[in-house]
Amino acid sequence: MKPNEPSRTALIPARQRAAHQVLDLGSILHDPFAMKILGEDEKEVLQFANAHPLASLGRLFNAARSRIAEDALSRAVERGVRQIVILGAGLDTFALRNPDGALEIRIYEVDHPATQAWKLERLAEAQIALPPWLVLVPVDFERDDVVEKLVAAGLQQNSPAFFTWLGVVPYLTQDAIGRTLDYMSSIQDSEVVFDYMEPPEAFSEGLRQLEKQRTEQLEKIGERLASRFEPAGIAAFLRSHGFCAIEDIGFQEIASRFGHAVQGLTPGHLGVRVVHAKH
Ligand SMILES: C[S@@+](CC[C@H](N)C(=O)[O-])C[C@H]1O[C@@H](n2cnc3c(N)ncnc32)[C@H](O)[C@@H]1O
Repeated sequence: MKPNEPSRTALIPARQRAAHQVLDLGSILHDPFAMKILGEDEKEVLQFANAHPLASLGRLFNAARSRIAEDALSRAVERGVRQIVILGAGLDTFALRNPDGALEIRIYEVDHPATQAWKLERLAEAQIALPPWLVLVPVDFERDDVVEKLVAAGLQQNSPAFFTWLGVVPYLTQDAIGRTLDYMSSIQDSEVVFDYMEPPEAFSEGLRQLEKQRTEQLEKIGERLASRFEPAGIAAFLRSHGFCAIEDIGFQEIASRFGHAVQGLTPGHLGVRVVHAKH
């Protein structure tokens, strides 16, 4: 990321969630704030959704990864977890939709300072108030000490925490990913849901070229894809950073579970997966 600019890539999943509301009626992830926080009109959102074949697959993946994370999160809350940490939150609206507001839940949204400042502007413009359970924590994963920042913001190290880390891992170096996983696993009974990108060969043939172009465009805007993993590699990496119960959900399974809910889904396979890991 460029130091003083909000993440341009945060717009992509936000547009996909908004398009999912308009085109698929939010059937995988119902998000009444998705359009509002984005501040674009339906025409712009549809233009984005119809721009290229990756978009319908990306829309499926984005809605599904949030749904998988939020389902796991609600099970954790049922078991008594009261600390939720959304790492690299972008324009994620879970904190606004939090169904467990009546419980003593704290939601920590951690993001790059420039992206967080931009989100606050977006919220103010959309006249959306910050809920009382939300704590904003500005952090640069590559430079700052996440632990120090979260502890200073009030996170209790001796109580369980649920982390979501969606759309972020591919942009971080293995060093930064490893340090963050070490921190999460140092909290007793912690859990994390994140997604990762596989090597280019995991994309179906027609999409490989598009994926290559997207990677080149990202480099031009200073948001380099820094980490890709094979499923066996991520499992070993997670184990070496203190996680043992690992569920790794591939795109095929996501498409069979949720694909029917996406209008005009392009045939194809993205090399992306979602992991739910427990300590
Ligand atoms: C693709 S967006 C995903 C946003 C959100 N999780 C979602 O799914 O809509 C990537 C997010 O990672 C954050 N990010 C990327 N590099 C970061 C870094 N070095 N430190 C902190 N945040 C970073 C960006 O600010 C952005 O919010």
